[in-house]
Amino acid sequence: MANLSMTQLKTRNSASRFSFNFSKKVYPRPSRVDFKVFASEGQVSEPDLSVKVNGLHMPNPFVIGSGPPGTNYTVMKRAFDEGWGGVIAKTVSLDAAKVINVTPRYARLRANANGSAKGEIIGWQNIELISDRPLETMLKEFKQLKEEYPDRILIASIMEEYNKAAWEELIDRVEQTGIDAIEINFSCPHGMPERKMGAAVGQDCALLEEVCGWINAKATVPVWAKMTPNITDISQPARVALSSGCEGVAAINTIMSVMGINLNTLRPEPCVEGYSTPGGYSAKAVHPIALGKVMSIAKMMKSEFDSENYSLSAIGGVETGGDAAEFILLGANTVQVCTGVMMHGYGLVKKLSLELKDFMKKHNFTSIEDFRGASLQYFTTHTDLVHRQQEAIKQRKAIKKGLQSDKDWTGDGFVKESESMVSN
Ligand SMILES: Cc1cc2nc3c(=O)[nH]c(=O)nc-3n(C[C@H](O)[C@H](O)[C@H](O)COP(=O)(O)O)c2cc1C
Repeated sequence: MANLSMTQLKTRNSASRFSFNFSKKVYPRPSRVDFKVFASEGQVSEPDLSVKVNGLHMPNPFVIGSGPPGTNYTVMKRAFDEGWGGVIAKTVSLDAAKVINVTPRYARLRANANGSAKGEIIGWQNIELISDRPLETMLKEFKQLKEEYPDRILIASIMEEYNKAAWEELIDRVEQTGIDAIEINFSCPHGMPERKMGAAVGQDCALLEEVCGWINAKATVPVWAKMTPNITDISQPARVALSSGCEGVAAINTIMSVMGINLNTLRPEPCVEGYSTPGGYSAKAVHPIALGKVMSIAKMMKSEFDSENYSLSAIGGVETGGDAAEFILLGANTVQVCTGVMMHGYGLVKKLSLELKDFMKKHNFTSIEDFRGASLQYFTTHTDLVHRQQEAIKQRKAIKKGLQSDKDWTGDGFVKESESMVSN
């Protein structure tokens, strides 16, 4: 991961052409929002975890991130039953026959493993593609879930080729199932870019603007654009997506990675018939990188977009309520979890909720909005840090606590007076 260099990125056009000069609240949101109400339990003394995002009500901010935990009816039902605030299904496209997965498609990085399979998993790489299940089947399951859980939030994740009619058809078909919102996968780092899909669009602001234009002209439910971290400045495509009509952005998808080389066979992992391809990195190891990307998007959104109407869904390495609190402190409205669910199961939402509530109680926060974005103000430039530190040292010196020189000894208690010498 540390070796990921920007020269690896296949950016067709320079994103820097998009140096828009936005002022705050330039983009009032149109009313493409469905006010479906989730009846959150009345809580007396407990902190309230419920959130309202782009008009969608959720009992808590925890959302299943697109991937294996949202791949079929059974697992999505399980997520609702366990109490997840929302579910984003595995990404679908029109023609699943074009999606051909390989095995193995996962590789794991373990801490203190020393070659054993017992160390804690801290990094997860996948070369899995989007859903290879027939679209018809997935649509039937979305419909059934919405019939059985009308008040719960189900979000379809979609991806298509560079073809306006195909996007329009896919949007129309997923919307007919009654899903509450759409997340656009502009971020899958492997396989799909070869078909000008996924990250190939998210890394190219001109292409992204055009495709977002098609999507938002067609969609009648809120649209979130899921961004790739495999780009120099993630705030640029996020800005393009929001200014092209999307109600929200989600970040991050996986980080392009090579998991390792087998030192016996000299072949890369995961090894498919002796060969491999760079994949997407997730889990705990990516959390600090995700925080950095989310911070950068949140700063841009705070200065250019109305926070009432535009949302941010943070993803990357969440396994504890504290991980989620960090994303919310940066400005996230919701927090997605994918690999964490694969490793710890759907019951993880209970632990996440308890830990987030503990954090809130500690600070006397009663709602998510009480602390959302509270830490964003403490990010500044390095130059400003230098200035602040120089100022602080100047002030501390001016106060000059304690004994400064031999002439200050009074003779009344040498021990006490000498202690004051170290307190500065
Ligand atoms: C096995 C696997 C499959 C994934 N498939 C998808 C997908 O189909 N669509 C998508 O938008 N993201 C997909 N993702 C990315 C996750 O939704 C998420 O953005 C990323 O893994 C980082 O979050 P995490 O650390 O909580 O997993 C996948 C991730 C994994 C591990």
